[in-house]
Amino acid sequence: VIPDRRELAAVAEHWDSAYRGGPTEVSWYETEPSISLSLISLLGISADAAAIDIGGGGSPLASRLLDRSFTDVTVLDISTIALDETKQQTRGDPRVRCLQRDLLSWEPDRRYGLWHDRAYFHFLIDDEDRRAYLRALRRAVEAGGSVIVATFAPDGPDRCSGLPVHRYSTQELSRALGNHFQLVESKREEHFTPSGSVQPFTWVAGRIAD
Ligand SMILES: C[S@@+](CC[C@H](N)C(=O)[O-])C[C@H]1O[C@@H](n2cnc3c(N)ncnc32)[C@H](O)[C@@H]1O
Repeated sequence: VIPDRRELAAVAEHWDSAYRGGPTEVSWYETEPSISLSLISLLGISADAAAIDIGGGGSPLASRLLDRSFTDVTVLDISTIALDETKQQTRGDPRVRCLQRDLLSWEPDRRYGLWHDRAYFHFLIDDEDRRAYLRALRRAVEAGGSVIVATFAPDGPDRCSGLPVHRYSTQELSRALGNHFQLVESKREEHFTPSGSVQPFTWVAGRIAD
């Protein structure tokens, strides 16, 4: 299904306006992507892996990967304002590529050794959208590549940024990532929003079977 341009413009505007209040004000803000970095270490992902952060927004992950000597980092997001934040944080470093795309209609043109997604997948509440996500994942991740995904946990909020979300246990999330996904590690996180409320997250980390 080719998404309607106006629909996409509305989605992009929704997220741009979420970020307009300042990147540190959004409920998903974190000063350090600690769990992401610990799972990257645990999976043994080396700095020469090409990494992509799906719905990466203005997360500090891209700049922390540069600090760890990664040389090939892509941040894909539908929001230009979020990507401008990433460019600012990484000072326009040529090792970081920012892609303003709708993930569901994106056609990957290369492969990555790490697919990272914190808090995008849970917005997909229709099977068709989840299938489109998995198609992109399968095309973008090399055989044996790593996948790290975080969503709200079953006792987490049922909405985020005014939109309904689907909440996952570890088992449900592993299953939702398809037959090729092999779970290596999972974690529960209690994320504190800038306003002090608690949002439980489910994290899974694994590999795509050869
Ligand atoms: C809850 S935020 C998480 C941001 C970031 N991963 C983090 O941890 O700070 C969800 C992100 O998904 C992006 N997004 C929403 N719909 C998208 C789409 N269709 N394609 C690509 N990115 C999208 C938003 O702009 C936003 O940056």
